[in-house]
Amino acid sequence: MELVFATNNKHKLEEISHILDEHYKIVSLKEIGCNEDIAETAETLEGNALLKARYIHSRYGRDCFADDTGLEIDALEGKPGVYSARYAGPGHDHQKNMDKVLFEMAGQANRKAQFRTVIALILEGQEYLFEGIVKGEILTERHGDKGFGYDPIFKPDGFDLSFAEMDLDDKNEISHRGRATRKLAEFLNKS
Ligand code: IMP
Repeated sequence: MELVFATNNKHKLEEISHILDEHYKIVSLKEIGCNEDIAETAETLEGNALLKARYIHSRYGRDCFADDTGLEIDALEGKPGVYSARYAGPGHDHQKNMDKVLFEMAGQANRKAQFRTVIALILEGQEYLFEGIVKGEILTERHGDKGFGYDPIFKPDGFDLSFAEMDLDDKNEISHRGRATRKLAEFLNKS
């Protein structure tokens, strides 16, 4: 059975295909001929994930799912949250985004934060949401050079390494996206 994943991110496509059983064939936006940039205009992760999944379902009539992720920092009242990709401006510049967070967190004692991923699935016209969270803290400076995004300044609880110092398999085991993806897979593998 074919399921559209509303992304063209190769890493995400591989990751989910790896977890789902062979009953499901995951196809990308490109593979269904969707070359539009689906604007993420909602104010919540749930809203953006649903917006993308509904867009594909209404235009292409396909079973599909979409995800959205944000870094939620307690002392910044949940920011950057839904604006994580473009926190320092529209350029999607990870270094500038981290600089902005480090600046805003300077001298802050409460460094608690979490990454949260929401996946919206539309299957046979029904909508479902799956959530994955990893709790941790914001470091005072960058550590490590693996991963992407805010990985160098996020240390998950229970570990002495930042996400950017961990191997990808170890990160996926505990990460927000890994957790949300496994919930989706569990649901689909049972359906
Ligand atoms: P997306 O919804 O997966 O595109 O994620 C939105 C933004 O959240 C990204 O542009 C990154 O800034 C940040 N982000 C998402 N996942 C991660 C991660 O695993 N590590 C670090 N940053 C992440």
